[in-house]
Amino acid sequence: MFDAEKFVNDQVKAIKAKVDGKAIIACSGGVDSVVSAVIASKAIGDRLLAVYVDTGLMRKGETEEVRNMLKDLNVNFKVLNAADEFFGDLKGITEPEAKRKAIGERFIRCFEREAKEFGAKYLVQGTIAPDVIESGKDGKGVVKSHHNVGGLPAEMGLELVEPLIELYKDGVRQAARYLGIKVSERQPFPGPGLGVRCLGEVTPENISVVREACHIVEDEIRKASSDGEMELPWQYFAALLPIRSVGVHNGGRMYGRTVVIRAVLSSDGMTARCAGIPFVVLDRISKRITDEMGDRVNRVVYDVTDKPPATIEWE
Ligand code: XMP
Repeated sequence: MFDAEKFVNDQVKAIKAKVDGKAIIACSGGVDSVVSAVIASKAIGDRLLAVYVDTGLMRKGETEEVRNMLKDLNVNFKVLNAADEFFGDLKGITEPEAKRKAIGERFIRCFEREAKEFGAKYLVQGTIAPDVIESGKDGKGVVKSHHNVGGLPAEMGLELVEPLIELYKDGVRQAARYLGIKVSERQPFPGPGLGVRCLGEVTPENISVVREACHIVEDEIRKASSDGEMELPWQYFAALLPIRSVGVHNGGRMYGRTVVIRAVLSSDGMTARCAGIPFVVLDRISKRITDEMGDRVNRVVYDVTDKPPATIEWE
């Protein structure tokens, strides 16, 4: 059986022995990067800097949550506000792979800058066993180029430290629980953030619509699940579609936006089944989105596709 206490102690010892200078970690607030940051911080204290890049593509309240979490965990950290840089790079881009590439590249540039400024010699990454397996040595075609804060390039000239490399998600969650990290049961969130939930151009205005819609979907589904109306799906969110349709707002014609509700059941994200949301819950979500954003959104639809043939995210 996996012994989380022994695992953490062994990794702390190994990092103490290996790391003789400063180290940096890109910390998204996801369980893998937070567990790695806490283990490394136990080993080398303030010689570690955890950098959280606020891309402007994060969920509602997420940056503050991560900031408070890292503060509570006594990790030396910095929040880098880079929203303007990301929106600048994304201007005019609508093709999904081009968006992913722009986001990934800007992320690396930001992180490189921070590593240099801090004088880091080592790069701590939250890579876990499936990341290595899925990075595909089997020559299969790429469906989407997944961007991970863990996936920084080797050419950065930093020596890699990967404390979780032999663990699967369940082991990471056990280590998180042992370390008292609250994030252990969070739903997955893609590296490029709301950028891949905003079809068409990624602008601050479009992101503000999808951020609010995601928040409403998450909030209503969590409430419905804790009230026993439905099981909590594996992942649940909203995406903003790049179409407009005709509707009515304040008694007049409006040509508004469309939001799609997505919820899936899965165990590893590789395949997924559409999660059945009871109609009363869909109705509450739809009413709340159009009440709270009635000047912008006039249509809410429900995605009932499995993966395959769809993917979980829309881009
Ligand atoms: P798809 O959309 O490919 O997503 O069916 C499968 C799972 O992966 C998440 N996802 C990502 N995670 N970087 C990540 O770390 C990414 O670029 C990325 N793209 C998708 C998605 O949310 C789902 O859980």
